[in-house]
Amino acid sequence: MTVPPHRAIIYPTMATEIRPISEDDLEATHFLLAYSFTGDRSQEGRLKHVESMGTALALYDDGQMAACLRIFPLQTFIHGASIPLGGISGVACLPEHRRKGYVGQLLRHSLAVMREQGQPLSSLYTPHFSLYRRYGWMAASNAVSYKFKPKEIAPVSAVRPEGHSYRITDEEWPAIADVYKRFAAHRNGYLNRDERWWKEATFRRIYESKRKLNDVAVWANGQGQPSGYIVYHSASEQPPDAPSIDQLYVEELIALDTNAYSGLLRYLLAHDVAARITWFGTVDEPLSLIVEEPDRISREILDGFMLRLVDLEKAFAARPAATAAPEGAFTIHISDPSAPWNQGVWRIESSGGQLAATKADGAADLSTDTAAFAAMYNGFLRPTEATRSGLAEASDPKAAALADRILATDYPPHPSDFF
Ligand SMILES: CC(C)(COP(=O)(O)OP(=O)(O)OC[C@H]1O[C@@H](n2cnc3c(N)ncnc32)[C@H](O)[C@@H]1OP(=O)(O)O)[C@@H](O)C(=O)NCCC(=O)NCCS
Repeated sequence: MTVPPHRAIIYPTMATEIRPISEDDLEATHFLLAYSFTGDRSQEGRLKHVESMGTALALYDDGQMAACLRIFPLQTFIHGASIPLGGISGVACLPEHRRKGYVGQLLRHSLAVMREQGQPLSSLYTPHFSLYRRYGWMAASNAVSYKFKPKEIAPVSAVRPEGHSYRITDEEWPAIADVYKRFAAHRNGYLNRDERWWKEATFRRIYESKRKLNDVAVWANGQGQPSGYIVYHSASEQPPDAPSIDQLYVEELIALDTNAYSGLLRYLLAHDVAARITWFGTVDEPLSLIVEEPDRISREILDGFMLRLVDLEKAFAARPAATAAPEGAFTIHISDPSAPWNQGVWRIESSGGQLAATKADGAADLSTDTAAFAAMYNGFLRPTEATRSGLAEASDPKAAALADRILATDYPPHPSDFF
């Protein structure tokens, strides 16, 4: 996807310009990214598959590339809707140009680009939360890493499920895409993956430069129908002055029913040479409750994606209400200096199973900034908790309680895909 040249912005006084990256600049971009993320700067280290996966923008200082970012054109599921989302990645600035505000300029520019591309939401993964928070993204999901030794774990039920497992390669991705959709579409935060995403970001780790395949095993039930799968990879790790340790990492385990959950857990536990299994799962994963000794599974909360409302009105128009959300409305004042089209008082209404945001006048029931509101939009942050902690203000506590129920989600947001 390319950005029309008319969208280039020139800042005359600063001799800087923001424009889409052309073919000629791919090597400079590779150097900037490899340098900034301690990657392989040679040609072999180029992540060519990523280069063609989204819009890349750069800021040029006196004609030289100084900073860049990429926008993946993605879609995210919530309550059965698939909402376009700009996935921000590859954000970097050369060290001699850092702390001049260049990445800030690029991020603000990307908001106008995503809005024009019809992406009302944006998400990203980062270790620099406060940087993105300044521009309206907010931490809005958690995953849990479940760690255990396979030999120490026994399922509560001794009954062997009817069915069998078999491994597949990336060319067989449709075999699990249907299972995934049935599991993920009505949940919250899972990506609506296309063929390329399945091949480059699920069957392989997106930034793994050798493009090694993950292992993928399908569970077929007693009738031979796929009803679950597991994506994982193994690694032999060498601690200093100690024997190597085999580790197994589960990227995703999707099971549609008890039969699949039980079959895939047994398949996983059969990897008994692994000193440790690490499973990146949901915060509400029932795993520890279906084994004999839950305390043999250590659980650590991980930060997931940050979320931003790029176009507040369209984001609400696309978002179905939760199953038990009441009919009703509240008003909220949003401050959003980086995306002024979101700024002002909005009436958020739940009606007929759908949410809607319309511009309103006068004093609002609640007020907050766009970042905190993003975390309320996807159910990560309850409005009453936002007001309790100072992230929002309420002129009427009853309105905050109603907002809790209007913005509730059926499932907690899950960061299904790292990018
Ligand atoms: C992080 C990085 C992209 C910042 O780029 P930059 O051009 O220096 O950022 P800016 O100058 O535009 O900073 C914008 C604002 O964010 C703040 N900021 C910059 N880097 C920050 C960081 N690492 N953590 C928190 N805040 C940061 C700045 O202080 C500035 O705030 P201010 O306007 O209130 O002073 C750059 O240091 C870099 O390339 N690092 C290595 C690669 C990396 O970590 N990329 C991001 C991965 S998500």
